[in-house]
Amino acid sequence: MSIQTVGIIGAGTMGNGIAQACAVSGVNVVMLDISDAAVAKGRATVVSSLGRLVKKEKITEANKTAALSRIQTSTSYDDLKGTQLVIEAATESYDLKVKIVKQLDSMLSPETIIASNTSSISITKLAAVTTRTDRFIGMHFFNPVPMMTLVEIIRGLQTSDATHAAVHDLSTRLGKAPITVKNAPGFVVNRILVPMINEAFFVLAEGVATAEDIDAGMKLGCNQPIGPLALADMIGLDVCVAVMGVYLQEFGDSKYRACPLLKELVAAGQLGRKTGKGVYTY
Ligand SMILES: NC(=O)c1ccc[n+]([C@@H]2O[C@H](COP(=O)([O-])OP(=O)(O)OC[C@H]3O[C@@H](n4cnc5c(N)ncnc54)[C@H](O)[C@@H]3O)[C@@H](O)[C@H]2O)c1
Repeated sequence: MSIQTVGIIGAGTMGNGIAQACAVSGVNVVMLDISDAAVAKGRATVVSSLGRLVKKEKITEANKTAALSRIQTSTSYDDLKGTQLVIEAATESYDLKVKIVKQLDSMLSPETIIASNTSSISITKLAAVTTRTDRFIGMHFFNPVPMMTLVEIIRGLQTSDATHAAVHDLSTRLGKAPITVKNAPGFVVNRILVPMINEAFFVLAEGVATAEDIDAGMKLGCNQPIGPLALADMIGLDVCVAVMGVYLQEFGDSKYRACPLLKELVAAGQLGRKTGKGVYTY
């Protein structure tokens, strides 16, 4: 099945980024959120993002106009009826996502694929609340979506080969480089990334090196664009603790325990850039 029109649930950071990536690549989009204000904000973000690409001469003004003409915004599920794929990119809450995918399952045509952009919820578990477990899949995009090439395509236990093939084909048409991942906590990238960040906090706590030297070491020695401690400040130290908590619970392996220093900084309200102070002061 070739996907020509994609529905997107949620016009936030990820939803509007996915909408932009689709529209620029000639794919029609219906971007849905809970209020007119939310969809207007999502659309405005796409308008300014495309404007920056025109300024940098990455796309032409005509490309921008054409891309915007492909994005329909809506607050009604009825407008999703002509889609071949709906990507759920709403707020990260299990209860909310269950409610959304059940509603989608009840009104979309049987052949429409449902994908979720969740970072932490089991794709197999979400698929199981629908009647189309074979046509349910994870599409984990990275932020900012228009810039980041990777998409993790997550196969739930019952995802069919045809569903995987259709979503893989779409990802390639969006100019992305998809990797295929079995459903497991953290998928591939965050499963490796967040424990690495956590280990950097252990190294810091043990006084092995200063924060600046730990970050410089990983940048210069591993060619990472940003050190793990500076990255933790960008992600949010509370988010790192929460993610480690999920791994600890799901795998039952103590190697996933959050570093006490990391937890202590969170307890102090030093969550990173968003609070002006984390490992570093901003
Ligand atoms: N931000 C990231 O770096 C990142 C990266 C990969 C995946 N994700 C995942 O993407 C999803 C969205 O994250 P985000 O950062 O875009 O969040 P966000 O807060 O920026 O946007 C979420 C949007 O969902 C909307 N929403 C809430 N309930 C809704 C409903 N019932 N119907 C329609 N829309 C609804 C909200 O109004 C909001 O506009 C989450 O599952 C998150 O885990 C985020």
